[in-house]
Amino acid sequence: MTSSPPSLSCVLFLTLALILIAISPALTTSRKTPDDLHDQLMKTGIKITLNNIDSHGKFTKFERLHRAMNRGRSRLQKFSEIVAGKNPNISSAVHPGNNEFLMKLSIGTPPISYYAVMDTGSDLIWIQCRPCQQCFPQPTPSYDPNNSSSFSTLSCYSSLCKALQGSCDNGCLFFYYYFVDSSLFEGSLGNETFTFGNASVPNIGFGCIEDVVAGNGLNQPAAVVGLGRGPLSLVSQLGEPKFSYCLTSINETKPSTLLMGSQASVNFSSEFSKTTPLIQNPKIPTFYYVSLQGITIGGTNLPINQTTFALNANGTGGLIIDSGTSMTYLVESAFALVKNEFIFQLKLPVVEQSNSTGPDLCFELPSGVSTVEIPSLVFHFQDADLDLPTENYMITNSSTGVMCLAMGVSSSDLSIFGNIQQQNFLVVYDLLEETVSFMPTECDKF
Ligand SMILES: *[C@@H]1O[C@H](CO)[C@@H](O)[C@H](O)[C@H]1NC(C)=O
Ligand SMILES: *[C@@H]1O[C@H](CO)[C@@H](O)[C@H](O)[C@H]1NC(C)=O
Ligand SMILES: *[C@@H]1O[C@H](CO)[C@@H](O)[C@H](O)[C@H]1NC(C)=O
Ligand SMILES: *[C@@H]1O[C@H](CO)[C@@H](O)[C@H](O)[C@H]1NC(C)=O
Ligand SMILES: *[C@@H]1O[C@H](CO)[C@@H](O)[C@H](O)[C@H]1NC(C)=O
Ligand SMILES: *[C@@H]1O[C@H](CO)[C@@H](O)[C@H](O)[C@H]1NC(C)=O
Ligand SMILES: *[C@@H]1O[C@H](CO)[C@@H](O)[C@H](O)[C@H]1NC(C)=O
Ligand SMILES: *[C@@H]1O[C@H](CO)[C@@H](O)[C@H](O)[C@H]1NC(C)=O
Ligand SMILES: *[C@@H]1O[C@H](CO)[C@@H](O)[C@H](O)[C@H]1NC(C)=O
Ligand SMILES: *[C@@H]1O[C@H](CO)[C@@H](O)[C@H](O)[C@H]1NC(C)=O
Ligand SMILES: *[C@@H]1O[C@H](CO)[C@@H](O)[C@H](O)[C@H]1NC(C)=O
Repeated sequence: MTSSPPSLSCVLFLTLALILIAISPALTTSRKTPDDLHDQLMKTGIKITLNNIDSHGKFTKFERLHRAMNRGRSRLQKFSEIVAGKNPNISSAVHPGNNEFLMKLSIGTPPISYYAVMDTGSDLIWIQCRPCQQCFPQPTPSYDPNNSSSFSTLSCYSSLCKALQGSCDNGCLFFYYYFVDSSLFEGSLGNETFTFGNASVPNIGFGCIEDVVAGNGLNQPAAVVGLGRGPLSLVSQLGEPKFSYCLTSINETKPSTLLMGSQASVNFSSEFSKTTPLIQNPKIPTFYYVSLQGITIGGTNLPINQTTFALNANGTGGLIIDSGTSMTYLVESAFALVKNEFIFQLKLPVVEQSNSTGPDLCFELPSGVSTVEIPSLVFHFQDADLDLPTENYMITNSSTGVMCLAMGVSSSDLSIFGNIQQQNFLVVYDLLEETVSFMPTECDKF
């Protein structure tokens, strides 16, 4: 054992103390520019608790899988539409979708608490505001700019307004297409202080939704925090190129964690992690693409064509890593190989699905047998062979004796590496190095 943990926490503590001293006067005298403030905050780092969207329902892991799958299918469908350019209403930078993790945050001065969806598949930070002509029902009162002393409108000449393709009308007015249920929002851009955990972050540009022009938005969240690569996202606005999350297992009641700034890599060790380059898709700057080059099941490297997961020049294809999609979805030809290999190696009866809402591959467990040997699964990302823990891809319902693969077939040529496969890894996004790293971590220990 080395002495690094104590010295690390010591450095952290000192940094924290220094930042606290430095930041309080700066806020009141506003000698610092917003960028300076964000820099300082990122040196301290921010730790945010994430709850699974189903964590308050009394669901078993199998039920959670089913619920997550239904959400994931609709998200996948919408992602595929964007990639195919089928939906003309989608403005360049904004791709909200269905989601899995909620973060608690506060907005304004005095701060009011909300739950917002964490979304690596979209950019805009948004919340329903008052007055709202027609809004989604939400559990907490909608945010009222009049009640916050730190609110101001963002100018239509701001870079964020340009990114949102907004128009000038007493501030920046924009229309925003919300995929999941094809709703159309109208809103304006605001400038506010957001509080994550106990870190207060001033000068955050966000969308204040004032009207739901079309759609009923039932069961939708009232707020979203976009963590995509585009200029509107929290990551881009903070100007800190590193963030990470650590998602607990789907059967776990303990919350997950989102880490920003210096905290993002506090528990990171390159020795124990795998790192793969990020790829940019100029057609969809929001998404985090990675290069998947192969898959090995139980030692058998599947004969997947090198072009299968490649990102095409016209913006189609490729594989994205996403926090808001539960299962991994692979293009049809690759999924067929995965499915056949599991069937071949497991030698268990396949449960025929009469119904498209179920997982794509389930097995009947032999009665009276408590453990089945499950073949290993390795995703070969460029420079990173990721060996997945069994619980990251096989989910068993012991009462019905059914075991399902937490992977499915994509409805388009876009593949998605989902959040079940990312469980119990610290997943570090580094936008300066253009990499994403996976470090095995017991995420419930954060
Ligand atoms: C197994 O499936 C049955 C039927 O769908 C469900 O009622 C039960 O809660 C499931 N058990 C677990 C452990 O998920
Ligand atoms: C685009 O938005 C308009 C409303 O502005 C709506 O009438 C139309 O159906 C939408 N198109 C799609 C493909 O959703
Ligand atoms: C907020 O204040 C403005 C101007 O004072 C007013 O027009 C608006 O109706 C107020 N909004 C609410 C929700 O009270
Ligand atoms: C805004 O403040 C008023 C007066 O303090 C209060 O009655 C109202 O509930 C507040 N609105 C919200 C949305 O918090
Ligand atoms: C934030 O809260 C944690 C515990 O809740 C505490 O240990 C830490 O010192 C706080 N940080 C700041 C900047 O107040
Ligand atoms: C947001 O408001 C703060 C002061 O409240 C100001 O310093 C900052 O420049 C504003 N940000 C933008 C982008 O206008
Ligand atoms: C979740 O599942 C894993 C593996 O099956 C098991 O080790 C763990 O104890 C379970 N956790 C809970 C909270 O049930
Ligand atoms: C891989 O796919 C491409 C395009 O579909 C095809 O041209 C090529 O022949 C395939 N390669 C192999 C080895 O099957
Ligand atoms: C995009 O490029 C791929 C590969 O070259 C091709 O198969 C596909 O048909 C193209 N899609 C569109 C919408 O042009
Ligand atoms: C599929 O299964 C769901 C729930 O398991 C059920 O509500 C639905 O009616 C089924 N659909 C068909 C076509 O059997
Ligand atoms: C993160 O690192 C700290 C300090 O080294 C350690 O106490 C903590 O257990 C680690 N957390 C996880 C989830 O590994």
